[in-house]
Amino acid sequence: MSDDSGSDRRAMLRLTACALGGGIAAAVGVPVVRMLADPASKITVTGPSAPIDLGPLDRLKIGADPVSVPVVAKEIRDGWNAVQQVVLGSAYLTRTSAGDCTALSSVCPHLACTIGWDPGKRHYVCPCHESLFDPSGERVTGPSERGLDPLPVTIKDGRIYLTWTRYRMGGSKREPV
Ligand code: FES
Repeated sequence: MSDDSGSDRRAMLRLTACALGGGIAAAVGVPVVRMLADPASKITVTGPSAPIDLGPLDRLKIGADPVSVPVVAKEIRDGWNAVQQVVLGSAYLTRTSAGDCTALSSVCPHLACTIGWDPGKRHYVCPCHESLFDPSGERVTGPSERGLDPLPVTIKDGRIYLTWTRYRMGGSKREPV
């Protein structure tokens, strides 16, 4: 047997070993990498895009002061984690008719402090820089450049469903973030 055929055989064996090794590495490695990177290719944070049940409409009285209610998401997902009962903020609800109500975000449009309702003066007030808003949420005075942000509500089977939305701080234009 010549030296040439011996070195050919060795080269062939090396090639076969490399191909086998590569195949085994791919067979084991690809599923592992896919499992580890799984959330990377998906939408991993699920926000509360579905309307949130805020309870019966009858908890509100027509003509009464606005009522502050907490807005709580049943579940928020982030990668592999799921967190239940997440408090997103609060909203002021006002009953406008027998079958309807409005909702205003309690996040001040100026720098996001939590606004309050002053029942004596019948206006909303921000404790941080004293922006004032009338009962419908329109800006009266203060550094906020716009009125309070309205939140969409629907009434179904006598219950209030609110779609939680955050808006960009500052500015006169309302931009969802
Ligand atoms: S944060 Fe409300 S007025 Fe500044």
